[in-house]
Amino acid sequence: MNFSARSKLGETDSGSVVGQAIAHDSARGHVSGKALYIDDLPEPAVTFHVAPIMATSARGRLLSLDVEEVRASEGVVAVLMAGDVPGCNDCSPVDFDVDPIFASETISFHGQVVGAVIATSHLLARQAARRALIDIASEVPLVEAAAALAADARLMPDYAFQRGDVTAGFAAAAHRLNGRIAIGGQEHFYLEGQAALAIPGEGGDMLVHSSTQHPSEVQHIVARALGVASHAVQCEVRRMGGGFGGKESQASQWAAIAAIAARHMGAACKLRLDRDDDMMLTGKRHDCLVDYEVGFDGEGRIGVLASHFAMRCGYSADLSLGVCDRTLFHADNAYYLPACDLVSARLRTNTVSNTAFRGFGGPQGMVAVERVIDAIAWHLGCDPLDIRKRNLYGVMGLTTPYGMDIDDNILPELVEALERSSDYRQRRSAISAYNTASPVLKRGLALTPVKFGISFTLIHLNQAGALVHIYADGSVALNHGGTEMGQGLYIKVAQVVADEFALPLEAIRITATTTAKVPNTGPTAASAGSDLNAMAAREAARTIKARLVDFCSERYQVPAPDIRFVDGQVVIGTERLSFGDVVREAVRARISLSSTGFYRTPDIHWDRAAKSGRPFYYFAYGAACSEVEIDTTTGEMQVRRIDILHDVGASLNPAIDIGQIEGGFVQGMGWLTTEELVFDEAGRLRTHAPSTYKIPVASDVPEDFRVALWQSPNRRETIYRSKAVGEPPLMLAISVWSAIADAIHAVAPGEQVGLHAPATPEAILAAIKAIRHPGGERP
Ligand code: MTE
Ligand code: MOS
Repeated sequence: MNFSARSKLGETDSGSVVGQAIAHDSARGHVSGKALYIDDLPEPAVTFHVAPIMATSARGRLLSLDVEEVRASEGVVAVLMAGDVPGCNDCSPVDFDVDPIFASETISFHGQVVGAVIATSHLLARQAARRALIDIASEVPLVEAAAALAADARLMPDYAFQRGDVTAGFAAAAHRLNGRIAIGGQEHFYLEGQAALAIPGEGGDMLVHSSTQHPSEVQHIVARALGVASHAVQCEVRRMGGGFGGKESQASQWAAIAAIAARHMGAACKLRLDRDDDMMLTGKRHDCLVDYEVGFDGEGRIGVLASHFAMRCGYSADLSLGVCDRTLFHADNAYYLPACDLVSARLRTNTVSNTAFRGFGGPQGMVAVERVIDAIAWHLGCDPLDIRKRNLYGVMGLTTPYGMDIDDNILPELVEALERSSDYRQRRSAISAYNTASPVLKRGLALTPVKFGISFTLIHLNQAGALVHIYADGSVALNHGGTEMGQGLYIKVAQVVADEFALPLEAIRITATTTAKVPNTGPTAASAGSDLNAMAAREAARTIKARLVDFCSERYQVPAPDIRFVDGQVVIGTERLSFGDVVREAVRARISLSSTGFYRTPDIHWDRAAKSGRPFYYFAYGAACSEVEIDTTTGEMQVRRIDILHDVGASLNPAIDIGQIEGGFVQGMGWLTTEELVFDEAGRLRTHAPSTYKIPVASDVPEDFRVALWQSPNRRETIYRSKAVGEPPLMLAISVWSAIADAIHAVAPGEQVGLHAPATPEAILAAIKAIRHPGGERP
């Protein structure tokens, strides 16, 4: 492996810690088991355990719920149902839909929670829950997107971006192609499942430890469910064992049930979902069917693209509006579309409500347009990379289908650089020669770009708060609204605060995120964690720093510009005092050493109805080149080599950023190659963890895996000119999927490849069969 940034791991330059490759603050805790997750927290002496009672049909009317046997089970102390919710029986993240905490009349998906068992142990609660007798007048469920499309089952109106005269564009096009791609969903498979521990306090207070990316939302939903004001509820989260979008809205129900149980019992209650239950009960990435038609010229330049995305949203809205919008925002990926008609249908099915997942709908849009590019190349007999380069923003126009002008485009240079560093052209000819001589094994190569918009398109979410205290001994406590899910947000923000005071990193104490310290935050999502929270924390630090400067200036009669913070000291004119001494003096002089900080992203606005504005503060770019080999007799696939060049602006922490790039890439590769969700006709999820649902493991990490950072400062005034990194690298994995299609194409050059996603061995074999018999039945 070739990780230049790794060599610096752990070192800190006394001058500055921002930009250093510093290990994750919990790295040792993660690998030694000392990092505490919710299920590791010491339980209060009296703690009960809660398990869900789950519906046994995917669709119908709940006729009766008989819990006599449940109550009689060993260890059971209480059973809760819809009527036991003291406040509002709804945990939906949006105000235009309802997600019942306990379903009471209508059953909308298989496994839907209809009640909860409170027992003396986790196991006894789960055992008892299975003894409920649930009588449902079942109806035939709508399961697949295709069925929902045929039934016109829509959760909300379609939305579209249109530009130019599409009809005229198709009429004028020298070439036209159309096709359909099925893109599968994805289970988050965070290592820590959904968990909540609710501890009642005096006067109706409730403390909820929740494994959530969105503590403020958990606080508000728990308060609403308990029928109390938000000030009575505190939500705390020190860390998650992965969230990946699956704990953005999906943590609320479990927190609410734990809190309702704790209120009911007057004692602490813990709910931790069993892994299989977690898979059935929580939403996933939206799978979809994409129908496209493209018109292009003899050089492969796109004149017009029509893409229709039929997205399976599940039984309720959840975050589908934003997710499906983001699919459209990224249906162009990196390519200028002179005329287009990009539509997304948000389908209602009797399956769990699909939700955020790394990339938040963007990946689906990009997969589709990358297939369109490949299709053009196959048709014209060109190298797909040439078609990509001819259509890039910057080579063609710079205005997106939603009317935003791109002003920070670096893709033409970045793609060019990766083409060179990955030795693309030479390997292309070597692979062609190999394929000619090899009838069974075929190799494929693809270099695909990523352009990902940074900001929440729901503009009000682009805000953050922080709270910084300096104690009298000079140590600093840092708190902000962002949550830590393994992505390294805490260390990045701590680095920024350390530099603000010129202190070593050890002087900054990272403290658990809690709604009691920073209120009204958005979720930690959209990769905006450090953009938002590091700015807010720096603001808080600067406020205190300004007070310290004023204080020193007055006390030592030195003009403020002559006071500087350097290497753990405060330089006051010709004098030098330690930071700790200055702080001690300031406390004695009654200077406030605590401050909040606040930040809201400037210059962004989006009018969804008018479809106009500037929804993204900037774009994060990247490209990946993947080489694969397939066995055309078995469908087996192996990744031979990966080259990544990814734009992180001026990195706050290259070690963390490279980790995010590697992790995101491998997670994307899992989505597109091995992870398959199968629901049966009755709407039951038939893939289980980890036996039949295959996430990538250590042995799937490509042996030859080259990751390089494109480090040029962000053109926007982000924190230290860095860029968001959490989600964009996932979409670099589209190059693997495209390389597999390229390998299949080698079986019958010039034919179209009907490969769907995920490219499992079965899907690869089906595509090979179809390409060998063109005109025959397509998979
Ligand atoms: N990395 C780890 N290790 N664990 C996670 O759960 N979530 C991803 C990404 N990287 C995730 C992760 C997702 S979906 C997002 S939106 C970002 O991290 C959120 O964190 P950030 O905004 O601080 O980048
Ligand atoms: Mo990430 S899907 O925005 O939590």
